[in-house]
Amino acid sequence: MSSSTAPTSELTYPMARETVLDPPPTYASLRAEHPITRVRLDFDDSEVWLVTRYEDAKTILTDTRFSSDFQTPGFPARLTSQPPGPGTFIRMDPPDQQRLRHLLHPELSRKRVDELRPTVEGFVAELLDRMIEKGPPADLIADFALPLPSQVITTLLGVPYEDREFFHDTTRVMGEQTTPPEERLRVRNQLKEYLDDLVAAKDAEPGDDLLSRMCERRVEADVSIEEVVGIATLLMVAGYETVANQIGVGTVALLQNPDQLADLKAHPDKIRGAADEIVRHQTVTDYGARRAATADIEVGGTTIRKGDGVLVVLSSANRDESVFTDPDELDINRKTQDHLAFGWGPHQCVGHLLARVQLECAWAALFERLPDLRLDVPLDEVPFRFDMFVYGVRGLPVTW
Ligand code: HEM
Repeated sequence: MSSSTAPTSELTYPMARETVLDPPPTYASLRAEHPITRVRLDFDDSEVWLVTRYEDAKTILTDTRFSSDFQTPGFPARLTSQPPGPGTFIRMDPPDQQRLRHLLHPELSRKRVDELRPTVEGFVAELLDRMIEKGPPADLIADFALPLPSQVITTLLGVPYEDREFFHDTTRVMGEQTTPPEERLRVRNQLKEYLDDLVAAKDAEPGDDLLSRMCERRVEADVSIEEVVGIATLLMVAGYETVANQIGVGTVALLQNPDQLADLKAHPDKIRGAADEIVRHQTVTDYGARRAATADIEVGGTTIRKGDGVLVVLSSANRDESVFTDPDELDINRKTQDHLAFGWGPHQCVGHLLARVQLECAWAALFERLPDLRLDVPLDEVPFRFDMFVYGVRGLPVTW
């Protein structure tokens, strides 16, 4: 049995990729030989446990003794200067996390998301109309992948149309790892001020939108108005870059696997399974699931000590060969077991159904309207973003 007293690791995180559509090859060796191992985080030199196997990942994400609270000693923080504000339940533990999540839950239920599908389809169609009118070529990220989730989330929240550009800009700046901390803080405060006013207005005079309904239910649910603002901010941040980058890398993955793409074009009804498989294969939230141990806990023969930080590598778990046959193959006919791209356990992505609807509508319409869609530059000229919280592409030059 190993423990946190084990010798210091020479490994550092993040690890280098060899090919743009596959996670770093070191993950596969770690899964085979050191599935739970110490690594040094290159941005603050602290040491955490890196968890690379599927079963261990699930165990940790299910066990609430592994805290998601930013303030728990050992939590692998990146932006230590800015503790998350009230309402940011992704960085909280139950029961508070559950109190806030429950307020939001009905708004992102299967029924509500199914009702939203035609709206999402409408946005997709409009964006493609505009892109097709302008091009070819086009930048699929700027013209399609970014505006789609921005429109969806602002519509869901009930943000007035004229303010949407502001939302788009602020979330983009906050998502860039290269943004200096003072700029990030300035933009975050701007967003908070805006949402303070918006939520106060919805609280006073509710409309037919998510924020208004949360305001109406918040007293009964014991949620403060500041927390509603925090939930809105969290949705903006969590539901935007993730979807945009998933559309970006997923499209590249399909284009690089022409047999799979041909199968999808010939059988559009396969879109649901295909989207799920793309999300497994191209898991964008590499640095997504972080925890800190609040007790000494044994996982897979390793004792993780109280106060140790843990990084559950979802992109590695989703390529675990003991769970997925030929995990490195993109196979849209795969009967995918529960993959972990949206996390697992009490913090599993509360927006995963909304994300899935957007991805399904986006890829279905994209390849139906533009069956000859292809990259407009060689793959090695596509600007992949290795330096961000979410893996993806900064731009995607395409033609048709
Ligand atoms: C492809 C798109 C997406 C991916 C890959 C993704 C991934 C994830 C992951 C891995 C987590 C778990 C983090 C953890 O365990 O610490 C998470 C949580 C979360 N996601 Fe997503 N997400 C996506 C889209 C969305 C959307 C569209 C929304 C909102 C509309 C959203 C809102 C959230 C929220 C609020 C949480 C926190 C849940 C909690 O802590 O209880 N996400 N997401």
